[in-house]
Amino acid sequence: MDLHGKRLVILGCGYVGAAVARLARAAGLQVDALTRNPTRAAEISELGVNPVVADLATDAWHERIVPGADLVLNCVSAGGGGLDGYRGSYVEGMRSFVAWARRVPVGTVVYTSSTSVYPQSGGVVVDETALTEGAGETGRILLEAEAALRGAAGACGRWFILRLAGIYGPGRHHFLDQVRAGTAEMKGDGSHHLNLVHRDDISTAIMAVLASPPALRGEIFNLVDDTPTPKAEVVQWLAGQVGQPAPLFSGGPASARRGFLSPPDRLISNAKLKAALGWRPQFPSFREGYAAILSA
Ligand SMILES: NC(=O)c1ccc[n+]([C@@H]2O[C@H](COP(=O)([O-])OP(=O)(O)OC[C@H]3O[C@@H](n4cnc5c(N)ncnc54)[C@H](OP(=O)(O)O)[C@@H]3O)[C@@H](O)[C@H]2O)c1
Repeated sequence: MDLHGKRLVILGCGYVGAAVARLARAAGLQVDALTRNPTRAAEISELGVNPVVADLATDAWHERIVPGADLVLNCVSAGGGGLDGYRGSYVEGMRSFVAWARRVPVGTVVYTSSTSVYPQSGGVVVDETALTEGAGETGRILLEAEAALRGAAGACGRWFILRLAGIYGPGRHHFLDQVRAGTAEMKGDGSHHLNLVHRDDISTAIMAVLASPPALRGEIFNLVDDTPTPKAEVVQWLAGQVGQPAPLFSGGPASARRGFLSPPDRLISNAKLKAALGWRPQFPSFREGYAAILSA
């Protein structure tokens, strides 16, 4: 589907939202973007985006966005504030969006959820058919937001949910920062797989979903690169790249998501997204992604 001249509304225009805004503007779309932060609004207006400063969870923005969005991307994050922040931005935010969409025509909606909705561990492959019962507290909140969108199918032309893995990219490279800082020791044994996705692969996937044939609708896709890799291998490779000794893994308890004793170990599959849309990551593993960051 040709997106040139279409109107895109981005709800929560942060790291991912701004990357999509850049691609969308380059493809000739008109873009409105919501943020709570006036400084952020000034930054995104430089991308040729019309910023609206308001809290998604309220209805303060409803009258401030011109009705008739062909495309909507809800990529709001928790924005701090613990579980209350999660509930406010994700669940109340989605409910506010649905209330707006029931009053104005809205076309295709894409929501960026997270692979944290999957509780699986033990090295299993996780595709979109995997059960989500047993997800942690934050995962359950995201599932509630997903359900609010799925339950409002009549409010929009069609919806898609993208479950994103760990995001990294320019300006966001936590493991590289740790290794560069000479971190001598990391918690855990480093054997669990990291499931990562580069920011620029997220934005191309979102654009591909927005432009997908109208017959495709109501789908959930995992969004992750091709190569889940044990954490120890990632930090060892990074250490080699920056000429630092590789951190040792202490073997003690590793930091885990709320409600879990250890980080999950699973291989998230992107096969469904590839098959449905022909999308391919430009950075199929952390190696290509971090190499680009290091050489920038
Ligand atoms: N980070 C990860 O590794 C990861 C993993 C899986 C999934 N995801 C999902 O990926 C999506 C994109 O993440 P990201 O890294 O782009 O997040 P981000 O950089 O934090 O951007 C989110 C934006 O939403 C804004 N926001 C938060 N609450 C809001 C509200 N109530 N009303 C209006 N704006 C609000 C934030 O700005 P203000 O707070 O200044 O308003 C921020 O600009 C999110 O949905 C996130 O849950 C992230």
